[in-house]
Amino acid sequence: MKKILITGGAGFIGSHLVHLMVRKYPNYHIYNLDKLTYAGNLENLKDIEKESNYTFIKGDIVDENFINELFAEHNFDGLIHLAAESHVDRSIHSPLEFIYTNIVGTVNLLNAARNTWKEDMGNKRFYHVSTDEVYGSLGETGAFVETTPYDPHSPYSASKASSDHLVRAYHDTYGLNIVISNCSNNYGPYQFPEKLIPLFINNILHNRPLPVYGKGINVRDWLYVEDHVKAIDLIYHQGRKGETYNIGGNNEWKNIDLIHQLIAITDELLQRPKGTSTQLITFVSDRKGHDLRYAIDASKIKNELGWQPSVQFDEGFRTTVKWYLDNEDWLKNVTSGNYQKYYEEMYSNR
Ligand code: NAD
Ligand code: DAU
Repeated sequence: MKKILITGGAGFIGSHLVHLMVRKYPNYHIYNLDKLTYAGNLENLKDIEKESNYTFIKGDIVDENFINELFAEHNFDGLIHLAAESHVDRSIHSPLEFIYTNIVGTVNLLNAARNTWKEDMGNKRFYHVSTDEVYGSLGETGAFVETTPYDPHSPYSASKASSDHLVRAYHDTYGLNIVISNCSNNYGPYQFPEKLIPLFINNILHNRPLPVYGKGINVRDWLYVEDHVKAIDLIYHQGRKGETYNIGGNNEWKNIDLIHQLIAITDELLQRPKGTSTQLITFVSDRKGHDLRYAIDASKIKNELGWQPSVQFDEGFRTTVKWYLDNEDWLKNVTSGNYQKYYEEMYSNR
């Protein structure tokens, strides 16, 4: 049985990946290592928690001794690293946690892999999951390719860029069998309601203002989360050693257009008259260093590995809104406790 370590498997994308791997590969044992920060939630994994090829481990990737002992104990065959602090606004508010988890945590994993895998290093795989935000911001045209120079603007993207460089350095210096992917904005079930789509669904549900940053003209390329984890599966198994693959939805939306679409679907599903929640739109001060536009050229993964998005946006978006409305208890659970304090701090002065 192959032993695969997934970090951050209780988060949004990680929990979808754990589901896929546990179900698709009965001959793999999936170890899910997660610190269970505010963003990690074992409720996301309820339906697979008793599977015989799945083990949850609570732990912090910043804890060097713990990581070394874990690797020494299990002799993993490979690692898919998703654990991170992932929210740009939080990184602007308190950058240090991002440096610890995203940079120091990644180096701890790299060191543990290098030290325990040694002669077998070529056969074991270190997969680092990263973001398109490392490339910076685009103007009206063009798209990020794998060779676009790094130009991060937020503490979050700078910390992810830094970890990407370190992962590549361990390949070039020590021969670690690494692969990296840089993906665009994901949407779907189980995303913490600090990110645009679930935050706005939750606010519409409770008739709260919808805080649109700046003029709402920033553009993001949205990909359904299930398509992202299928790409991760493919890259983990077939990606070439040392390579980077961009993953994107080929699905660009200006924030304000996406928000109008979101309002239309949510109002319809809540059986409110058309356009009811449009009045909740509130333009607030812009995010500092707000990247104008992201777009991904995903032709490398398409040409080399045959991947392309399979979920049409209309379908994925409606499924997503419906999921949050059908899972109000999940929303309630994750927005109790510290969430109220976070919301106050983040939005009261905008
Ligand atoms: P998330 O915030 O939903 O989940 C992160 C998970 O990491 C949580 O379960 C959290 O408990 C865990 N974690 C945080 N710090 C940890 C630590 N020190 N030790 C162990 N576990 C820790 O994030 P997400 O949106 O699922 O993103 C997952 C990965 O994908 C991140 O690396 C992110 O940079 C990348 N990514 C995200 C997107 C997106 O649109 N969400 C797009 C591209 C890339
Ligand atoms: O591109 C990939 C990245 O996508 C990931 O690496 C990040 O982990 C993920 O959080 C996401 O980053 P963004 O900053 O693009 O996502 P967010 O949902 O925070 O914001 C999407 C857009 O909506 C962005 O232009 C800011 C805007 N926004 C966001 C919030 C939370 C608002 O206008 N109002 C809001 O309240």
